Amino acid sequence: MSKILVTGGAGFIGSNFVHHLVERTDADVTVLDKLTYAASREALDVLPAERVTLVVGDIADADVVDPLVAEADAVVHFAAESHNDNSLDDPSPFVQTNLVGTFTLLEAVRRHGTRFHHVSTDEVYGDLALDDPQRFTETTPYNPSSPYSSTKAGSDLLVRAWVRSFGVAATISNCSNNYGPFQHIEKFIPRQITNVLDGRRPRLYGQGTNVRDWIHTADHSSAVLTILERGRVGETYLIGADGEESNRDVVETLLELMGQPSDAYDLVTDRPGHDLRYAIDSSKLRAELGWEPRFTDFRSGLAATIDWYRDNEAWWRPHKETVEARYAEAGQ
Ligand code: NAD
Ligand code: TYD
Repeated sequence: MSKILVTGGAGFIGSNFVHHLVERTDADVTVLDKLTYAASREALDVLPAERVTLVVGDIADADVVDPLVAEADAVVHFAAESHNDNSLDDPSPFVQTNLVGTFTLLEAVRRHGTRFHHVSTDEVYGDLALDDPQRFTETTPYNPSSPYSSTKAGSDLLVRAWVRSFGVAATISNCSNNYGPFQHIEKFIPRQITNVLDGRRPRLYGQGTNVRDWIHTADHSSAVLTILERGRVGETYLIGADGEESNRDVVETLLELMGQPSDAYDLVTDRPGHDLRYAIDSSKLRAELGWEPRFTDFRSGLAATIDWYRDNEAWWRPHKETVEARYAEAGQ
């Protein structure tokens, strides 16, 4: 594959993936990104211009999408509205981008016979009880809870239907919660890190007992590239790094790493419909494709992420007041 189209390549995970492609392959990369509030041009600025081209446009605009797909050997689809809390305020852009946008891309790859990889989330499976010995697998029934996860579930089902009905050469991955550089500060970990850097206290929803399964975004990138190169068309692969932590444990570790008392946080209004626990069984990806995560020590990954936000205040500072004002309205 010498030319890869990456949708959402100016977002958190997409931009980390573009860095991975530039480092690990010879491919030229075209990023199609609408540059919403969540995007960051700076994340791409440091990359060589002869390898990476940014096209500003909407994945739901067939006139923009079609010629880009026509000249690509593969499409890796990250673009989405991605934040659960925002989807509870206004689901409309989630339906438009996650469903109509994915549909528009699928029609283009169908026309041009282009390999397609769809990036999705474990949240399509709903949640698990805290004491459930099971983890999500590729055969867990879909049971999404929020407008965000339901539109991602719908987009996965569109991909499956386009594979079966039209023979589109697609794979799907469902990954657990990512952390790492360039994550928007509305999300849990960067919000709490920047709160502490800003002299504010971390804010835990409910009692902080909800569990997420954390993976460093660099491991997500290596898994997606592995599936793109060696995955079986029509298959779904779950991506996870055995990183289950309660939100309270994450905040306590973070406070300790930042030299604060480990109880220096506030419990705030819970998220409506808040999923209790996510946990991924990634045996299929490991056994079939030989993928392994590299960042398996969450504490050191978190320490490196804290350093990144400390060193890159100019990147996040302009957004902090707006993000916090929005959370304050919701009592969070
Ligand atoms: P993000 O919000 O940081 O980035 C999304 C990017 O998509 C932004 O650059 C935005 O400008 C772009 N975009 C949004 N709407 C668009 C449109 N209509 N046309 C073109 N570009 C558009 O999101 P993220 O956290 O990097 O997530 C990327 C993908 O990974 C999403 O599909 C998400 O569902 C999936 N995912 C995320 C996580 C996580 O922990 N964040 C976990 C598993 C899967
Ligand atoms: P988030 O980063 O929004 O990811 P997701 O909803 O996709 O899991 O939230 C991660 C967890 O952290 C989730 O259980 C909600 C919780 N949370 C807080 O406790 N406080 C916060 O300020 C935020 C943003 C999230």
